[in-house]
Amino acid sequence: TSLTTLEIQPLGAIGVDETGTIRFVERNLHGGPDELIASFKASKSAWADAKLVCIKSTTTGFFFPGFIDTHVHAPQHPNTGLFGKTTLLDWLQKYTFPAESSFSDPSVASRVYQNFVSRTLSHGTTTAAYFATIHVPATNTLADICLQRGQRALVGRVCMDSEVSPEYYRDESAEASYQASKASIEYIRSLDPGGVIVQPIITPRFAPSCTSACLSAMGRLAQESNTRVQTHISENKGEIDLVASLFPDQKSYAHVYHAHQLLGPKTILAHCVHLSGMERRLVLESGCKISHCPASNTAITSGCAPIRLLLDEGHTVGLGTDVSGGFSPSILENVRQAVWVSRHLAMQVDSDAVKLSTEEALYLATCGGAAVVGLEDKLGGFEVGKEWDAQMILLGNVGEEGCQDGNFGEGPVDVFGWESWADRVEKWVYAGDDRNTVAVWVRGRLVHRTGRYPGYEET
Ligand code: GUN
Ligand code: ZN
Repeated sequence: TSLTTLEIQPLGAIGVDETGTIRFVERNLHGGPDELIASFKASKSAWADAKLVCIKSTTTGFFFPGFIDTHVHAPQHPNTGLFGKTTLLDWLQKYTFPAESSFSDPSVASRVYQNFVSRTLSHGTTTAAYFATIHVPATNTLADICLQRGQRALVGRVCMDSEVSPEYYRDESAEASYQASKASIEYIRSLDPGGVIVQPIITPRFAPSCTSACLSAMGRLAQESNTRVQTHISENKGEIDLVASLFPDQKSYAHVYHAHQLLGPKTILAHCVHLSGMERRLVLESGCKISHCPASNTAITSGCAPIRLLLDEGHTVGLGTDVSGGFSPSILENVRQAVWVSRHLAMQVDSDAVKLSTEEALYLATCGGAAVVGLEDKLGGFEVGKEWDAQMILLGNVGEEGCQDGNFGEGPVDVFGWESWADRVEKWVYAGDDRNTVAVWVRGRLVHRTGRYPGYEET
């Protein structure tokens, strides 16, 4: 995997046209935005009439590609930070199913989803692959909100019809699951026919929560409607044992999905913590993409996913917050956690070879995630022809002399005059948070800003 497309852009200007596409990237800033736009238009006659927005960086700020959250449960937002001593299967029964079942009330869905989309945008998430609930109206509301707010999203109605799920929260039959999923796909496609901002995704929760008939119906629906698929796999050892007991004829957990036509290049598999060599080969040969959810895997003690091994084998990997198995809606937090998990693995096996670098974890959060959701041609870096999905990161400025008495910058990271940009980015990754994300754009549209955004946007 190449890391070169990941770009940090201090002191520069980027020209974005009205379709949100990047038309020029100016690294050495001479003059102001107006001059840049004028000289660009003069040099490219085809753009003489185009509307361009020029975004200029500041001395303590830089642009970074928008984060891509490849696995997140929007209805679990109210439970963020709660998990007690549970592990996956009792966590689902104790915390998750009761919370999700309340989304039968559309007003709950509307309030929680508005709040959560604001929350993820404020952390720089410009694209998210969302699990909703089994309820079609609530799921469709999440798609409405993402479209209104301008966050790119894959929105999935959760399918679950087996007795592993409680009677108060499951589909009545495989056929009911199929019909409800189809209805939600049709609604989401009617909202955004090109799937530019929102698109549907077929979402069987995980093998234990679905009957074989339901998994088959989802495989068929994916083929018929040419829709992406997301699910969970091999997160927790109790879950793996449960799958083996529920599907005794299948060679492995991955084979359960394979047998139901659910593995392919449009499938996102969350977790992949304990996959066997045979399963990893099947996942790779099928072209599936992997969502790594390190904060969640530690919080509910699922395990340490071997991401270095998966990357070396050629898998495509992105990061997921997995709220609320994960305790944070922030992909930046999961960049840190991905590095931590790899370091814990390195300490266990006493080898540096399994470590992820900071740059690699940032790559997973952006370019890797773009490939996981199938948007690698449009997203992931600042190149002419890609789309402007970006965040402005502003660090605290305490001046050339360093920190004066009590004169701290706003936010958790202070910048000192002698530091290199590489140092500043590293400080942002390990010490920064959403206070540093002062503006966020999707397809050129400003979708979030704070009072600290310096407002260098001119038309
Ligand atoms: N497996 C099945 N459902 C879930 C869920 O909601 N969260 C996580 N982390 N794993 C799951
Ligand atoms: Zn999950």
